[in-house]
Amino acid sequence: MPQVRKNLERLTNTVVQGTKPSMILALNQEFKGIDDIVMLTIGEPDFNTPEHVKAAAVADIQADDSHYGLSKGTALLLKNAASFLKDRYGLDYDPKTELLTTIGVTEGIFDTMKTLLNPGDEVIIPQPTFPVYGAAATVCGAKVVPVPTVDDDFLLTPARLTAVLAEHPKAKAIVLASPGNPTGVAYSETQIAALAAVLKQHDIFVVSDEIYSELTYDRPHASFAKALPEQTILFNGVSKSHAMTGYRLGIIAAPAAIISQLAVIHELITTTQPNVVMAAGAEAFGPGENDAESMRAEYKKRRAFLISAFDQMGLHYVYPDGAFYFFVKIPDYLEQDGFKLARQIAKEAKVGLTPGVAFGQAGYMRISYATSLAQLKVAAQRLSAFLKMQKAKQPSVTDADM
Ligand SMILES: Cc1ncc(COP(=O)(O)O)c(C=O)c1O
Repeated sequence: MPQVRKNLERLTNTVVQGTKPSMILALNQEFKGIDDIVMLTIGEPDFNTPEHVKAAAVADIQADDSHYGLSKGTALLLKNAASFLKDRYGLDYDPKTELLTTIGVTEGIFDTMKTLLNPGDEVIIPQPTFPVYGAAATVCGAKVVPVPTVDDDFLLTPARLTAVLAEHPKAKAIVLASPGNPTGVAYSETQIAALAAVLKQHDIFVVSDEIYSELTYDRPHASFAKALPEQTILFNGVSKSHAMTGYRLGIIAAPAAIISQLAVIHELITTTQPNVVMAAGAEAFGPGENDAESMRAEYKKRRAFLISAFDQMGLHYVYPDGAFYFFVKIPDYLEQDGFKLARQIAKEAKVGLTPGVAFGQAGYMRISYATSLAQLKVAAQRLSAFLKMQKAKQPSVTDADM
């Protein structure tokens, strides 16, 4: 086993040295080792990739499609992705110049931060949030301006946006995710229009992560790209909509002048997306445009079950419009340190949850329902028993304290 010469690791990029691996993944690994645990930590669909998408991948391999592909994506993938955005959300993007495919939205986030930000630039990120945006911006030497949304039902309000833009007039970008991870909260068309009216007055990019767009339950998904196409860099992909997290396929849609720059970074990092993945993605966005329908119906049932279970337990949560998460407030009678509490619940109740602080919001836990209804029922029983036991340990607690 080679040892690094004379602690050479101290000479690496100091920003990278200070960047920690994902707390969420680490905790997930730790909990997986607990016998009989029900994992509600997971941020990926429990469904299988649709059969016709798998068949397209196999056919691509069999056809010996094994040479370097086009860097921005195959013509068929880009055409089908453009049709998907048009048919599902009424968005107009030219597949030749205004779309790019990436190794999941995750690579798209990095490409975007690298393309937009010089060291020292500011990027506004409402909290809580998917942690990759901030980590990618930081690795690029930029500064994150966090904006709390906990007092506004986890939505950025036009008033708060106006205030933060007044304080940070040179901010290059704002990251918005709808529906969001970890809250499941989505912006309505009216709310988007109100934010767009403010953002239009500033030279700022809107980085809009809409990877959960197909998983909205009460109303059609509303896109920032519809309200503000000239400023928006839109992310979507097949990870959540088509249960294809392991394929690693995302798309970025933006004005041509931005896509051409993003494409340079994408090409530098990847040369190209694997051909087999692009073939599967073309099938998912094309013939599989409506594949999410049956999964959406199932998630909706699970959400309804958890709403009634959490209500019975007296838990407070923000109503999730989409994705597959609940963001639940930690009751006063429980341990308030999210990591300690997650470990306690994993050990004593055998349910795996993710502390909200991993997403930048203490005092909450993220509960994923990307697992079967049967498993959710077991988890709900265990959580309910755990809460009763904890309450019993503190006889002074009444329902009014919760
Ligand atoms: C909001 C959000 N964006 C992006 C991703 C990652 O997407 P991908 O699998 O396409 O990299 C996730 C995964 O959990 C997410 O929650």
